[in-house]
Amino acid sequence: MERIAVCPGSFDPVTIGHLDIITRASKLFDRVIVLVSKNIMKTNESFTPQERKDMILCVTKHLSNVQVDISDGLLADYVKDAGAIAIVKGLRAVSDFEYEFQMALANRKLYAGAETVFLTTTAENMYLSSSVVKQIATFGGDISHFVPPEILELIEKRLVKERLS
Ligand code: PNS
Repeated sequence: MERIAVCPGSFDPVTIGHLDIITRASKLFDRVIVLVSKNIMKTNESFTPQERKDMILCVTKHLSNVQVDISDGLLADYVKDAGAIAIVKGLRAVSDFEYEFQMALANRKLYAGAETVFLTTTAENMYLSSSVVKQIATFGGDISHFVPPEILELIEKRLVKERLS
């Protein structure tokens, strides 16, 4: 049986922290589906779901067992339909824990056929988030240490343009 994991997130935009988690998940499972999902708490989106998907495709093309998809529905439903056995999420700090724990329990209630697996972030990515990247880029700061080089220019151009418009 193929062991499939779903790695969901907003990815607005994908960071090197996300890429690290995706890469490590790809070593643990036969197939990883990175799922661009809707977080209703995040209303200030900079990139469309298709743009986010394209950026993830661009930075994961060397990972042969990783695919990317978009969902605007419930994660638990997607996981079930995909036949996945795990939901993989990155944990940065204690501050992430309560929220992630709540989601893991809710997802289990909705679909008990998959486990939520937390991968701890590396020490150097502890502070990193898409919002931090967006803040820095919007004000013209250097984000080259935070996002994969292939998508750096695209992100910088978009966020600076957003500020000026
Ligand atoms: O990167 P994020 O914003 O922390 O990811 C959160 C995300 C998108 C994975 C979460 O909001 C989600 O699962 N959204 C899909 C809708 C859903 O199933 N919500 C209930 C989760 S318990």
